[in-house]
Amino acid sequence: MSAQLALLHSDQASLVLECRNDGPPLWRYLGARVEPRNLAPLAPGRTPASFSLDEDVPFSTAPPSGLGWFGPACLALRQNGQRLVPVFAQAQVSQTEQTIRIVLCDPVSGVELVQSIDLLAGGAFRFSAQVSNRAAAPVEVEWLASALFPLAASSAAIVSWHGRHNAELGECTEPMPQQAWLREGRRGISGHGGPPGIVVLDEGASHHAGLVHALQLAWSGDSRIAVERDDEGTWIASAGAVFQPGEVVLGPGASLTAPDAILAVSTQGRNGAMAQHHAAMRQRLCWPTGTMRPRPVHLNSWEACYFDHDEDRIVALAQAAAEIGVERFILDDGWFRARNDDRAGLGDWTADPVKYPQGVKPLAERVRAMGMEFGLWVEPEMVNPDSDLYRRHPDWALHLPGRPQPTARNQLVLNLGLPAVRDYLFAALDALLREVPISYLKWDHNRDLAPAGGQAQVVGTYDLLARLRAAHPDVEIEGCAGGGGRSDAGLIPFVHRFWTSDNIDAVSRVPVQRGFQAFLPPEIMGAHVGASPAHATGRSQSMGFRAAVAMPGHFGVELDPRQLADEDRAELAEWIAFYKSWRPLLHGQSTWLGEGPDGLVWQAAGTAQEFLLFAIQVAPQKNRRPQPLRLPFVADAKSCTIELLRIAGGERGHAAHRPALYDAAQVFSGSWLAHAGLPLPPLKGESVAIFHGKNSA
Ligand code: GLA
Repeated sequence: MSAQLALLHSDQASLVLECRNDGPPLWRYLGARVEPRNLAPLAPGRTPASFSLDEDVPFSTAPPSGLGWFGPACLALRQNGQRLVPVFAQAQVSQTEQTIRIVLCDPVSGVELVQSIDLLAGGAFRFSAQVSNRAAAPVEVEWLASALFPLAASSAAIVSWHGRHNAELGECTEPMPQQAWLREGRRGISGHGGPPGIVVLDEGASHHAGLVHALQLAWSGDSRIAVERDDEGTWIASAGAVFQPGEVVLGPGASLTAPDAILAVSTQGRNGAMAQHHAAMRQRLCWPTGTMRPRPVHLNSWEACYFDHDEDRIVALAQAAAEIGVERFILDDGWFRARNDDRAGLGDWTADPVKYPQGVKPLAERVRAMGMEFGLWVEPEMVNPDSDLYRRHPDWALHLPGRPQPTARNQLVLNLGLPAVRDYLFAALDALLREVPISYLKWDHNRDLAPAGGQAQVVGTYDLLARLRAAHPDVEIEGCAGGGGRSDAGLIPFVHRFWTSDNIDAVSRVPVQRGFQAFLPPEIMGAHVGASPAHATGRSQSMGFRAAVAMPGHFGVELDPRQLADEDRAELAEWIAFYKSWRPLLHGQSTWLGEGPDGLVWQAAGTAQEFLLFAIQVAPQKNRRPQPLRLPFVADAKSCTIELLRIAGGERGHAAHRPALYDAAQVFSGSWLAHAGLPLPPLKGESVAIFHGKNSA
C-alpha cells in the first residue's frame, strides 16, 4: 500500500505530507525538489525505537504535545486553569497545485485548527494557521505556531541577526544546536535585529549554491523562532507570535489567526532564498496605484536641522533640495505643538503655532510648487506626559495599575488595543491628511514597550494603518523605529519603505543593508547620503563612497545641501541624476550578494541579462594586486559585456587608478565571469567600483 500524499513543488523544492483520516498529516519531506513514488506509509512501518511509546508518534503538522509528542509544540491551550490537550481525531486535507489546506477537529474539546501552506509566485511557501473554539467554554491560547517544520539532518549552521539603535542587523552564524537555539523578541517590536527570521544553511551552502531554508515571520511584535534538535537526530524549526499571559481568550465561536510565516527553500544558496523572499514581499506590498512607480529621491530634514526649524528655514532647505534634483521633501520631527525637543508634544498632532503660525499647509504648498512631493513625520503610537493628550487621557498610555510606568526618550506608549485611542489617532491623522497636501508619512516608533502591549498592540496598530490606507490610498508611508527597529513583513501591507538605520555612516551601512536585503527588497530600503563626518559615528567619508553605498536602495539625502562645499554639492546632484537613470534596473528586480577576495563585498541588481554591479571595498586591500571577482549569477550567459561606469570614493589624495583595460567595455563569457572572475581595478579603502553588465547573446 502506498501512502496518500499532499505535495507542493516549487522549481527548487518539494514539501511532502502523508495524509491520514484520523490525525494531522505527517511530515515526510521538505527540501530540494524530489518526485516521490509509491512511498510506503510511515506509521506503523517505522523502525521501532527502544524505550518508546508502544504506539508510534511521528512528526505531524499538529503533533499531540502532552500525549506522546515530546518535540516543540504547535499549540498550547488552557481551560479553567488547566492544560487543554486537543486530540485532532478528525482531519481533512484538500489540495491544489498551489495550496494544501488542513482542517483538524477535536470533537471532545471543540477546538478546530486550520493550517494552510501556499506555494507563492517566486517559490516561497507561506504557512498560516487559525485556531477556533467551537464549544461553549472559553479557551485560552498560550501559543499557536505559525509554522512548525523539519530541517534536514545535513543542516550545518544558523544565520541570524541582532542589533541595537545605530547598529542594526549584525549578522551571526552559529553551528546547529545540540539542544535548542532560540531567537525571542520581547521588546514589543520586531527590533533592531531586523525581521524575525533565520536562515539555515545546509552543509556547503553559500550565497550562490547549496540548500538553504530561510524563514521570516510577518509580525511586528514579540515573536519566537526556535530550532530544536530532536531525539531522532534532525532538527525542527518553529515560529510564532508570543502572547502575554491570559491575553488571548477565545469565547464560543471565536478564532485566532497566527501571523503568516514565509519559508524559502532554495537549492541556489542564500541568493536563491533571498529572491524567494523578495518575491513574497512584493506580493504583500500595496502600492497606491497597484504597481511601484520609480522610487523618488528623498530629502529628509532630520539631520539637517533636528528640532530647530520654522517655515523660512524649511523653505530654504527645500529650495536647496529641489536644486539638486530631490523629488520628495520630508519634514521630520519638530513641526507640531510644543515640540522644541524630545520632551513634549507627542500626541498633539497640530502644527506648532510659533514655528508654523499658518499651519503646515502653506509650507506643503510651497514645497509642491517647487516640483516636489511633501512628506511629514508622525509618531502616532506615542505620547509625551507633557502633552494635552496625556493631560486629558492619562489612562490611554500602556500601564499596569500600581506599577512603574517607565519612559523612554521621555515618552509613553499609547494603548492601541483601545478602540478610543485608535479613533482619536485616526481622526487626528485623517484631518491632517485632508487639510494638507501630504503624499507621504514617515511613521516612527521610538521606544520599546514597557509595560508590554502584547498582540493587541500590534493588531491595533495594523488596524489603524489599514484604516488610514483605506481613507488615503494615495499616501505612501515609511516605517521607522529609532532607525530600523521595526522593519518586517507584518507592516509591509501598510508601508512602502523602511528607514534602515539612524546610522548613515556609509561604512556602517554596508553590512546593515546586506542584512536588510536577506528578507526585504531593496526598493523599500531607505538609503541616504548623510553628512560627513557622520552624526552617528563621527567618521568622515567621501561624497562618492556615501552615494555609491546608498545607490542600490531607495535613495535619499539626509543633510543640508547648503552646508556642502560647492564641489560636493555638484557631485551629489550628479549622483542623484545617476540614481534616476539607473533606478529601473535597481528596483523590483533580482539582487545578488556575494563576497570577493581581500574583504571585498559585492551586490548586483537587475536581471541576469542586464545588471549593475557594486564592488565595495571598505577596508584597504592587503594584496599587492586585486584578484578577479567571481560572478556565479551570470554563469549561463554566452557573452556578457561589462563596462566600468565609475569608481566612487578614494578620489582625494592619489587619484584612483583606472587601468587601461577599462577604457572600453569588455566582453567576457558567462562561464569566465562565474569561474575565472571579472578583473577588478585596484580599489582604495572606502571605494566602490560600479559596473554595468549586459548580455550580448
Ligand atoms: C527617530 C528616527 C529619525 C528621526 C527621529 C526624530 O530616531 O529614526 O530618523 O525621525 O526619530 O525624532
